[in-house]
Amino acid sequence: MNYKVAENKIREIISNKKSNVLQKVVNLLYENFDNYSWIGVYIVEGKDLILGPWKGLQATEHTKIPLGKGICGSAAATGKTEVIPDVNADNRYLSCFISTKSEIVVPIKKNGKIIAEIDIDSDKKDAFTKEDEEFLEKVADLLVDCI
Ligand code: SME
Repeated sequence: MNYKVAENKIREIISNKKSNVLQKVVNLLYENFDNYSWIGVYIVEGKDLILGPWKGLQATEHTKIPLGKGICGSAAATGKTEVIPDVNADNRYLSCFISTKSEIVVPIKKNGKIIAEIDIDSDKKDAFTKEDEEFLEKVADLLVDCI
């Protein structure tokens, strides 16, 4: 799906103010972007990230990640998007699925504070482009009041 079309659909889901907005947005991303093999939203709770809505073929064992740990914990600690073209070349990587080759983690910030993040695994190496990064940062901004 075209990024702009997806963004507009996400805006629509949010403005409808129905329940399960996060799950609906996760589903939309999963169903419309072939490279997005597993998508989850982690929520910051104290010193941990707790897995919220997700979509993918398998559940992850990493439902609670301490801030600072793994790619997810790093992004939450620094507030910077992490784009990992080859997960096996990054020693911070916490493995969830044997099929995962690349990953992107985009923090969701409210008034400068990191409150959650979008984590996407891809079964394709180097799957995430600058466009994906910009698009997902936009999605993160849109989701700020849905956490
Ligand atoms: N790979 C992540 C852990 C979460 S799973 O990808 C679902 C990490 O290194 O933090």
